[in-house]
Amino acid sequence: MTRTHRTFRIASIPADGVGTEVVAAGRAVLDRLATTSGEYQFEWVEFPWGCEYYRSTGRMMDTDGLDRLRDFDAIYFGAVGWPDVPDHVSLWGLRLAITQGFDQWANVRPVRFHPAVASPLRGAEDKNLDWVVVRENSEGEYAGLGGRNLAARGPGNEVALQTALFTEKGCERIMRFAFDLARTRPHRKVSSVTKSNAQQYGMVLWDEVFTRVSGDYPDVETESVLVDAMSAKFVLHPEELSVVVASNLNADILSDLGSALAGSLGLAASANLNPERRFPSMFEPVHGSAPDIAGQAVANPIGAILSGALMLEHFGLHDDAARVHKAVDIALGGGILTRDIGGSADTARVVAAIIDAL
Ligand code: NAI
Ligand code: MG
Repeated sequence: MTRTHRTFRIASIPADGVGTEVVAAGRAVLDRLATTSGEYQFEWVEFPWGCEYYRSTGRMMDTDGLDRLRDFDAIYFGAVGWPDVPDHVSLWGLRLAITQGFDQWANVRPVRFHPAVASPLRGAEDKNLDWVVVRENSEGEYAGLGGRNLAARGPGNEVALQTALFTEKGCERIMRFAFDLARTRPHRKVSSVTKSNAQQYGMVLWDEVFTRVSGDYPDVETESVLVDAMSAKFVLHPEELSVVVASNLNADILSDLGSALAGSLGLAASANLNPERRFPSMFEPVHGSAPDIAGQAVANPIGAILSGALMLEHFGLHDDAARVHKAVDIALGGGILTRDIGGSADTARVVAAIIDAL
């Protein structure tokens, strides 16, 4: 019997610190999955970009980097940043260059609680907690607009402007994305995160677009919550959340909070999507390069592995994505936990347990 055999060409960019460790882990799991499926394979091309590359070349990635990435089916990313390179240089030189250059305007960050992982939230185990942060990933507070000047006035007199950009189109596309996602979930609800009481231009536009778009989704419940109140709500009433849509900065902060509540930043996965598929999308754990634990082989690989599951979803391989989730649940349920979630297993042990469970 002949079966269609597909090859997915993936650009792998492990970059820095634990990024290299968790990307290797994720690749091992994805390759194993592909072998057992017999229906597809991954062809990996690894790029050496990151802080070490910067030290030797003065660039975080090659000048033609985006051109070289353009034709891949997806990008699998680790984390970028190291103490000897200013963070704004490393982040803008690589990760933001890709997300913005490829118009990956939807950053999807599920907050998933695992029964085997203790949450710092009291009573979390009695509730069914599961929500998704949808982050506007192309503009807002990370539009990169602004400048520093007046340095000639001398020390102590510098001025910096950091301007947030909100466009009607940018707000509308991320909100429609959030509503469409909510329709696929048991609880059809979108919570919009705002700060329009203090930010009377950008965030008021955000609110107006939210109200307008919600009119097209009468079957989806809505609420609009100020970001400060939303951070309290994450802790006090997380069971009321399903899809949370927020601007670039607000969602960045809230998704770290969400993953910490779920047990560890090391568990959190994310997808940077170009939903029109004009460019490759990028899949990466939410966490950074964790210099404090890098090189010790103790990084939690699950955030990267579940980012691989999001990549499978993007390819339409829903059953395979579910298999990854199940294997992760089995490994965690068997008590194979890294240090950040209260165990003593190293990265390799967790990967082996997940591969066994597949
Ligand atoms: P971080 O996420 O690297 O670390 C925060 C804390 O979480 C640390 O205590 C770390 O040990 C722990 N942690 C992170 N990932 C873990 C994992 N897989 N397993 C176990 N524990 C884990 O954030 P931090 O320290 O603020 O930033 C370090 C560097 O990473 C900086 O250069 C920063 O700019 C960069 N960064 C890069 C990101 C990206 O590439 N997407 C995202 C966030 C930070
Ligand atoms: Mg962050």
